[in-house]
Amino acid sequence: MKERLSRKVSAIESSITLEVSAIAGRMRAEGHHVIAFGAGEPDLPTPDVVQDAAVQAIREGRGRYTPAAGIPALREALSARFQADGFPLPADQVMVTAGAKSALFLAFYALLNEGDECVFPAPYWSSYTEMVKAGGGTPVILATSAGDDFQPDADRLRETLTDRTRVLLLNSPNNPTGTVYSRETLLAIAEVVRERDLVVITDDIYEHLIYTDEPFTNLLHVAPDLADRTLVINGLSKSHSMTGWRMGFAGGPKALIQAMSRTQSQIAGSPPSITQHAALAALANPPAPDRLASLDARRRLLMGELAKIDGVTCPEPRGAFYAFPDISAYLGKSGVPDAIAFTKALLEAKLVAAVAGDAFGAPGHIRLTYCTSEEDIREGVRRIGELLSELA
Ligand SMILES: Cc1ncc(COP(=O)(O)O)c(C=O)c1O
Repeated sequence: MKERLSRKVSAIESSITLEVSAIAGRMRAEGHHVIAFGAGEPDLPTPDVVQDAAVQAIREGRGRYTPAAGIPALREALSARFQADGFPLPADQVMVTAGAKSALFLAFYALLNEGDECVFPAPYWSSYTEMVKAGGGTPVILATSAGDDFQPDADRLRETLTDRTRVLLLNSPNNPTGTVYSRETLLAIAEVVRERDLVVITDDIYEHLIYTDEPFTNLLHVAPDLADRTLVINGLSKSHSMTGWRMGFAGGPKALIQAMSRTQSQIAGSPPSITQHAALAALANPPAPDRLASLDARRRLLMGELAKIDGVTCPEPRGAFYAFPDISAYLGKSGVPDAIAFTKALLEAKLVAAVAGDAFGAPGHIRLTYCTSEEDIREGVRRIGELLSELA
């Protein structure tokens, strides 16, 4: 059958993060205690008020198809949320999707013809390359460096653009580095967007997860004139622990939202109905501050533990819930040539699940999600240090 699959689907690789989680899940089912630094999923529970709203929606018989762009009440609520974030988007410029992932795919599908390029900074979230390909375009990487706090540089962006570049994709707070883009970075990027007439997608899924005083800043905050070409994507997976509920949303130019809704009407029908009613409750109840405090405590603990390992460097992640240490000093030794081999050995020999930086366009690194217990963070980093010292 394999040879009968389309070229476009054959080019798509499966999500490494989900694969690591699946292997860790199987090992757990066999009775092993696997330390989970793999999946990008909060371990905090979905708020009760959201769960209650879902149960009530089920009891009220709201499990029917909804309009393709989402129920009107939710589109209104999302419009208000965008407004509060500083983006004046009426309800007809907002749509609901089955997770931010769906919104991203629908956007690429709507914006890219074959051979059109979508540029995004590396390290990048591993799904971007595959989703751009699935949407019909070509992913192009804009390199950044730890020394520059992983901020995308406008001049380097200019050099990366070609006459096929259509879309620039930004993600701050960033998965996997945890960096948060500064106003200066975004002001300089906005200049390039104007010069080169690009469409911008900003993936703001970690908006509410910033651990410093710096404000969350989106391109539209520094360049509101770009609203006619910017699509903002967000969701409730990370902010309200609703990963499996599949609740994302997008706001932007009307013609783009209409095109994405049209596609959604044909391929999914509508976003999940019960989830939409639960989302109304989630939006009315912003995440409790102790959620952020709990993640921050674990972020600090992880950084402290990593600092004990000689030769491993890790810029402080200021947002999202990942750390992205550079372990390259230890690679190429004892039959462990790269981070992929390292994470494999880490899982098999030390029962610690982490994702190799190669999946994020950054070989020599590993991504650690710190949504796990403090005890597991201490023990997990101890085991990482142990394996590294065995290599050295
Ligand atoms: C940067 C980024 N965007 C989007 C998503 C997808 O979120 P959702 O669960 O809403 O599809 C993730 C999930 O890991 C992510 O890290």
